Amino acid sequence: MKKLLITGGAGFIGSHVVRLFVTKYPDYQIFNLDKLTYAGNLENLRDIENQPNYTFVKGDIVDASFIDALFAEHQFDGVIHLAAESHVDRSISEPMAFVMTNVVGTCNLLNAAKNTWKASGYEGKRFYHVSTDEVYGELHNPEDFFTETTPYDPRSPYSASKASSDHFVRAYGNTYKLPVVITNCSNNYGPNHFPEKLLPLMIHNILNNKPLPVYGKGENVRDWLFVVDHARAIDTVFHNGVLGETYNIGGFNEWKNIDIVMLVCKTMDSKLGRPEGTSEQLITYVTDRAGHDLRYAIDATKIMNELGWKPSLQFEEGLEKTVDWFLNNQEWLDNVTSGNYQKYYDSMYTNR
Ligand code: NAD
Ligand code: TYD
Repeated sequence: MKKLLITGGAGFIGSHVVRLFVTKYPDYQIFNLDKLTYAGNLENLRDIENQPNYTFVKGDIVDASFIDALFAEHQFDGVIHLAAESHVDRSISEPMAFVMTNVVGTCNLLNAAKNTWKASGYEGKRFYHVSTDEVYGELHNPEDFFTETTPYDPRSPYSASKASSDHFVRAYGNTYKLPVVITNCSNNYGPNHFPEKLLPLMIHNILNNKPLPVYGKGENVRDWLFVVDHARAIDTVFHNGVLGETYNIGGFNEWKNIDIVMLVCKTMDSKLGRPEGTSEQLITYVTDRAGHDLRYAIDATKIMNELGWKPSLQFEEGLEKTVDWFLNNQEWLDNVTSGNYQKYYDSMYTNR
């Protein structure tokens, strides 16, 4: 039996990873460690929470003594580390939260794994760090893509904190021979996506007849991957990735923000039975994000060729599934947009 620690499992991507591992590997004991920040939501895991191979642990990765004690108690064989502060706009207004969780929290996990595994031996152990393509900076030439050898050039406090954590993971691999592997993925979308991020925010605002804030001219480009395909890639790399290696994950699916917002509007109009063009009227161009990266685009050739992973869904199908999920789970959406989050949302919005 393997004991596996997944951090950040109550969040957007983590919840899909936890569900996949709990259902696919009944012989693994899965521990989901999550602080339940505004982005963590146990509703995301209701369907699997009573599975015998699943345990939820509430805790903060910034708390080193708690993390050390957790490792000492459970002697995990593997870690899949997703817990993070993940929103670029928040990193601009509250950068220190990103330094604490993304950098210090990651180092606490690395130390605990190193100290625990030094005693028991590294054989069969694996520390998997989940990262982002944003560490590579921004692209200008339409023919360029981020590869695993693209130099790091983080440009927001979020991407700087993730780049820093990636460097620490590699440094522990090099210095202490900790068995590490890293993936850098493009923008995800899908069920459970928190509505501060572009696609769920647009869906939420269309449902509530609110303006759709498009930053700048809407010309920035992102490369979108269905979240379940990211979870499948994490499964592939966790089991078959070569230790010490980095794999980029992406869907070869670039969209200008304004084009993807228009597509969401069209899909929502059709699903809601409204005349085409209704939701588009809500589009509002607002002040650009400070330091807004122009374009991200991943070259995912390495993971495809070496590990045989590829996205399972065409984008239009994934978007339709996503919109359907949000329409069928409006209570989830209402719950996460009420209370404290709503206050945050309102202040962000009026500042734009
Ligand atoms: P999210 O914000 O939805 O979830 C983050 C989770 O981490 C939440 O459940 C939160 O409660 C938990 N958490 C935050 N601080 C914590 C702490 N100090 N201790 C314990 N738990 C804590 O994020 P996400 O979008 O699911 O991203 C997950 C990971 O994937 C992150 O590391 C992110 O950098 C990376 N990533 C995200 C994307 C994307 O498009 N969302 C793309 C590539 C990589
Ligand atoms: P986001 O979902 O925050 O992801 P990231 O910044 O990590 O790529 O934003 C995706 C793109 O959409 C990004 O270029 C910023 C833009 N954006 C808007 O135009 N309006 C919004 O309200 C949000 C949240 C994002």
